[in-house]
Amino acid sequence: MKIDILTLFPNMFLGFIGESIIKRAIDSNKVKINIHNIRDYSKDPHKKVDDYGFGGGRGMVLMPQPIFDAVNSLKTKDSKVILMTPQGIKYNQTKAYELSKEKHLIIICGHYEGFDERIRTLADIEISIGDYVLTGGEIPAMAISDSIIRLLDGVIEEESHIKDSFNDDLLDYPVYTHPVEYNGLKVPDVLLSGHHANINKWREEQRLKRTKERRPDLLEKR
Ligand code: ADE
Repeated sequence: MKIDILTLFPNMFLGFIGESIIKRAIDSNKVKINIHNIRDYSKDPHKKVDDYGFGGGRGMVLMPQPIFDAVNSLKTKDSKVILMTPQGIKYNQTKAYELSKEKHLIIICGHYEGFDERIRTLADIEISIGDYVLTGGEIPAMAISDSIIRLLDGVIEEESHIKDSFNDDLLDYPVYTHPVEYNGLKVPDVLLSGHHANINKWREEQRLKRTKERRPDLLEKR
C-alpha cells in the first residue's frame, strides 16, 4: 500500500514514521508513506497557502489551489482521497478494514480555521476520528494510517488483530504477565492452568462481560 499525506506540518510525522511498528512496516516495504508539504504546491510567489474567509468572521482559510494541484499530481485510478475533518463520517474498525484493502490512499490534513469548501469536491470520503475538534488533521491522519497499516499482511501477527477490541463488536479480554502476584493482585488461576480450552472459554466470557460493563452500545449493535 502507498499512503500520500498532504500537510502544512510535515515534521509532525517524523516520530510516526520513524518509530516502532510503522517504521518496521516501511522498512520491510509493507507500506510506503510520502509526506508532502502543501506549501510546496503553492503557485503564489510567497508560497501562501491560506487567506481570509469571504464574509468575514473566521480566521485564515486554506486556499484550494495548492491542494487541488497536489491531489491531481498524485492521483491515479487506484487512489482513494480522504479528507480529515470533524464533519466526516465517524471512523471505526470496520472502516479501518475497508481502507486496508485499498492500494493507494491520499490523505488531506485540514488546518487553521478551516479549508475552502471546494476542497471537499476532491475527497472520496471525509473522515472524523471522533466528536471533538483538534487543531488540525495531522493527528487524525496518523491515527487512521496506524489503524490501517497494522492490518496489512505481515505487519503484526494476524492472531493479534483477530481478537482485537471491536472485532465482532466485542472488547478485548484482559491479559497478564509476570509476576503471578503483584501488590496482592493475582493472575486468574485459569491462565496458569495450561488448559487451552478452558483458557479460551474464560477469554470469550471476559470479552462479553467487559463489553456489557463498558460498552453496552456495542452489544445492541450486534
Ligand atoms: N480535524 C480536526 N478535528 C478532527 C477530527 N475530530 N477528526 C478528523 N479531523 C479533524
